[in-house]
Order: sequence, then C-alpha cells, then structure tokens
Amino acid sequence: MSQPGGTFDIVILGAGSGGYAAALRAAELNLSVALIDKAELGGTCLHRGCIPTKALLHAAEVADQTRESEQFGVKADLVGIDMAGVNAYKDGVVGRLYKGLQGLMKQPNITLVQGAGKLVAQDTVEVDGKKYTGRNVILATGSYSRSLPGLEVDGKRVLTSEHALKLDRVPSSAIVLGGGVIGVEFASVWKSFGADVTILEALPRLVAAEDEEISKTLERAFRKRKINFKVGKPFEKVEHTENGVKATLAGGETVEAEILLVAVGRGPTTKDLGYEQQGITLDRGFVITNERLHTGVGNIYAVGDIVPGLQLAHRGFQQGIFVAEEIAGKNPAVIDENGIPRVTYSDPEIASVGLTEARAKEQYGADKVTSYNYNLGGNGKSQILKTAGFVKLVRVNDGPVVGVHMVGARMGELVGEAQLIYNWEAFPEEVAQLVHAHPTQNEALGEAFLALAGKPLHAHS
Ligand code: NAI
Repeated sequence: MSQPGGTFDIVILGAGSGGYAAALRAAELNLSVALIDKAELGGTCLHRGCIPTKALLHAAEVADQTRESEQFGVKADLVGIDMAGVNAYKDGVVGRLYKGLQGLMKQPNITLVQGAGKLVAQDTVEVDGKKYTGRNVILATGSYSRSLPGLEVDGKRVLTSEHALKLDRVPSSAIVLGGGVIGVEFASVWKSFGADVTILEALPRLVAAEDEEISKTLERAFRKRKINFKVGKPFEKVEHTENGVKATLAGGETVEAEILLVAVGRGPTTKDLGYEQQGITLDRGFVITNERLHTGVGNIYAVGDIVPGLQLAHRGFQQGIFVAEEIAGKNPAVIDENGIPRVTYSDPEIASVGLTEARAKEQYGADKVTSYNYNLGGNGKSQILKTAGFVKLVRVNDGPVVGVHMVGARMGELVGEAQLIYNWEAFPEEVAQLVHAHPTQNEALGEAFLALAGKPLHAHS
C-alpha cells in the first residue's frame, strides 16, 4: 500500500492494542489519524500473544476434560492431540478477529500505513522515505520476548513464546525458563497436551507478582498435576544435547528436555526508532512519561508496553483511549495502575486486582489491614466443576477493599466485578447488600464480602 505521506491530527507509531485503540477513539472524536505499523494490524496480543495463547489453553482444557471425564460419569478416551487441528482452530480465531479489526479501521478518519516508521522530528514519522506529520504523535511500538546473556534463541530447541505458538507437535518434554505469566500458561498447556514439563524460576515462588497465598495454591495445584518446578535458583546456562537441551541452574543442578521456552519477561521495542534523538527519556529502554502519558517532548505521548508498568493489552487499550481523549481536550481521569485487572489463564486460573496483602500492609500499616479467604469448597458451582481454590479480599479496616485475589477454574471471569469493587472503592458492607446469583462461582465473591461484613452465610465467621 503506497501512501503519499501528509499531515494529520495524530500520527501513531504501532498498531497493536495501545495504538489501534488510540486510533479508533481519536476517529470517534473526529480527529484525523495515520496509523503506522511494519507488521499486521492488531500487534502482539492478537497475532502472537493473548488471543492465540488463550486458544491453546482452551484446547488444553478440552483435553483435560476428556481425559478426566469419567469423574463426571462420562466415558471418553483421549486418543491424542492433533497439533495441526489445534493450530487450525487457533489460527481461525485469530483470523476472524483480525478481519473484524480491519473492518473497524476502514473509516475516513483513519489512514493505515504499512511499513517501518522512524521518528525523524518531534512531529514527524518517516516510512519508506515518506513523511507523516502529526499535530500530535503517539508512540505505541510494544515489546519483544527478552532473552538472557549467553542464551541463544534458535527457534527450534530454544524458543520464545512466538515460536512456541507455532509448534507443529507436542514436545515430549519441555523446560520453561521463568515462572511468570507466560511460563505458567505454557507449562499448563503442554502438560495438558501430555508433555513432561519443568519450570525454572529464580525467585522463591511461581507468579511472584501475585499475592503469596495465590502462588502457594498454584504451586500445590501444579504439584498435583505433576508439573515440575524448581524455584529460588537462577538459571545459569543451556547446552544442546543429542536430542534436545540441558539447562544448568546456579549450584550445578541440571534438567534435560526436548525444548526450552524462554519466558523471562518482555522488553520495550524502542531501539533505533529515533526516540532518543528527538529528546525522549528512556530508562532501560522504556519510555518515561508523566501520569498523563506525555513524554515531556513536543506533543509526543506513549502508550502500552513501552511505558513502564503492567504489560497487558487492556492497559494498552485504556491508555490509547486516554491519550486520544487527552488530545481532544476531554481531560480524562488518570488511570490507576493498581485498578487494572490481571488474569493468568493457567489451570487453575488466577485473577486479581489491587494490592496484595503484603503491599497493603506496607502501604497502610500491618494493623490497619484485614484479609479474608473464602474457600471455593463452599461454593456450589465450584463443587460441580470440581475445582479447588479461594477468593481473598484485602480491606483497609473501616475502609474499602483494596485487593481481590482469586485462584481456581474460571476465576478470570470474576475479575470484572472485582475491578468495579476496587475502582469504586467499595466497602464490604456495601457489596454484601448486593445479590449474587445461585449457583454461580461469582457467588464466592459475594460470600467473601458477606463474611468480611460480619455476616457469613455458607462459611464460618
Ligand atoms: P514475567 O515478568 O511475568 O515473568 C518472568 C519470570 O522470569 C519472572 O518470574 C522472573 O523472576 C523469571 N526470571 C527472570 N530471569 C530469570 C533467570 N535468569 N532464571 C530463572 N528465572 C528468571 O514475564 P513473562 O512471563 O515473560 O511475560 C511477559 C509479559 O507478558 C508480562 O508482563 C505479562 O504480564 C504479559 N503476559 C500477560 C498474560 C496475561 O495477562 N494472561 C499472558 C502472557 C504474558
């Protein structure tokens, strides 16, 4: 597609979650937009992240349900995993969403530009020798899979999540380096598909950013699922063996497997894009902004994974909407980073919003914080699904709930109410008045609030 260049209200570099959300909101506000990307519209989340991984996780759930169907009195045999079929299903989901997104972008206020852009002036992005000038510029160039010094990703035995999404077979065994979100999600998928999995995590626990009790419950569930993990020891090196790889941990312990997935975080894509030359401040590659996402240079803003904080698509969406409204003079409310919901789609699922108990105690004082755990064992729908876990509430005494943490099957679906509770600063006594449908898993959240308000129903006080 050849564009003549031109002048726009906003030039956006990067058409992933942050960039395309900014474009759509700006167009609604009657601003003209040039949306530039060297790859596909939709970015990492749609093509190489959230969507395809969640399709794999759903296929994994179907495999587990089939394998374990007899506990529900249903007889079925799991004959095998046809990766070509799984990938066709996954690619079909991505393809339909991609088509829908392309349709949304076909509007007079948005000019899509295909090509690698570079910031060449404070108001100009150059693509293939053509200049796109913006009264405002939004940087939204996203992130890439990080590796470690000395760890060479070859895409065959040592993979990033991008490679792992394209595997045409189920590996017989896998080492997952990093027990964060990507690590536990892929470990969960591969185990469900029949692989022997070992997670290596340098920190003392899996999903270390979550509340400590959540980590413990996930670890217990993973042990039960026979997912191996070694925590508290950093990884030292990986070597190729005849049939795969051998990883060595600090202290000398080794683990062998067919493949190794590197899941040690994602770095910001900000190199060689002209950002520093135009005076933008980078910190370890991340673009520094104020709370209104302005870089302090010209009319340049930044959104999404290049801005320090949670690297989540829905944060990118909200930041994109925020900046479009800011540019349109609508003075939107600053986004509370703690109010952004977080979901890890492993089996069991983890969902949380707000502060962990430890963070709340740091912030408000240990004697000013109360927490309450409602065990899913008392929840009818969770019993029906045969899942274990809990809902944990963290409240400031005589004040609102400042943290909601959940672990168990399908807990991701409860995070919607949890984020309203956090962001509306609800008191337990207020939520306890509201009715939760029976029997739903959502009721577990209601029960936790009843208990915290001093009137438990299906729980002891
Ligand atoms: P992460 O930051 O969640 O986890 C990386 C893990 O690797 C950390 O626990 C870290 O301690 C560990 N690690 C680092 N160096 C190590 C070493 N030398 N040896 C052993 N362990 C080491 O990053 P991850 O999982 O790669 O995900 C990247 C980003 O993508 C995250 O920000 C995440 O939020 C996002 N994402 C979100 C998903 C979701 O919302 N469901 C799904 C997948 C990714």
